[in-house]
Amino acid sequence: MAASVGKLPSRNRPLRLLEVGSWLGNSALTWIQAADHYLPLCDGLKAELLCVDPWELQDVTLGPTSVKMNSVVEDDFAYRLFLHNVSFAPNSVRVQHFRGTAGRLLPLLRDGYYDMVYVDGSHRYDDVLEDIQHAKRLLAPGGIICGDDLELQLHQLSPEFHEIARRVMNDEEASARNFLDLNTMGIPENAPIKEFVEKGAYPPIHEGVTFAVAEAFGEVTEVLGYWLMREVAGAFKQVDISDFQYDFIPRHLRPDDQAKLLQMAKEIRVAASSIEAKRP
Ligand SMILES: C[S@@+](CC[C@H](N)C(=O)[O-])C[C@H]1O[C@@H](n2cnc3c(N)ncnc32)[C@H](O)[C@@H]1O
Repeated sequence: MAASVGKLPSRNRPLRLLEVGSWLGNSALTWIQAADHYLPLCDGLKAELLCVDPWELQDVTLGPTSVKMNSVVEDDFAYRLFLHNVSFAPNSVRVQHFRGTAGRLLPLLRDGYYDMVYVDGSHRYDDVLEDIQHAKRLLAPGGIICGDDLELQLHQLSPEFHEIARRVMNDEEASARNFLDLNTMGIPENAPIKEFVEKGAYPPIHEGVTFAVAEAFGEVTEVLGYWLMREVAGAFKQVDISDFQYDFIPRHLRPDDQAKLLQMAKEIRVAASSIEAKRP
């Protein structure tokens, strides 16, 4: 994630980042620190970041994750924790936030304004697709649209898994759960996919993200669930990550997570260089 900030086109102004879905500010802090690390100062500023999130109760019918999230929303704790966390931003990065849904705010933002839009708000298919469509409109030439929780791309699903995921998408109750973990989510009794749940044969995916990203872009560049695409002359292209710099680890992560991330970065670098070596 952080390394993609180093791949944004340099402008004669501070970079403009938009984050849809901020929760406690973990990814916001990553963008903030990455901007401070990779970008030059321009008029006393390296970047501005706008975070959009309602920081509100999630629909508890959405499943175990939203139940867990709701326990943090009480007394506005999630929102206050977000404010606390982003207060550590250095002066070089200006952080602003809008408290509300992307559906309310994004239509009001200016075309072509942002250098990067990170889509990590609602994970329901319709919402993800709408957020991506706005992101395309809001993006400046050469900018990057990216997002999270793409565990598998559509073309990576077996025909059988594809069919199951598609049925879940069309089953209002099941898709309302936001996250297709066929092993644990507990599909409604009468759902046609119950037999597959019992098999426990499929990895968990956010099927709304999988389908929406495929519909908006086809195959995308993806690393450990983080996906990204770059605007090039009016079209969206995959991003060459073989020369990504993995020399930066966000400081707000716990030391053991930092160590894990360093190890992963090494593995990604090895994988990326072997992909590069195989290119004709
Ligand atoms: C997966 S969390 C974001 C995590 C965060 N990006 C991070 O990595 O630290 C999803 C967030 O999206 C927010 N959200 C849900 N629906 C939304 C919507 N319609 N518009 C904007 N944000 C939304 C939720 O409140 C939640 O904070």
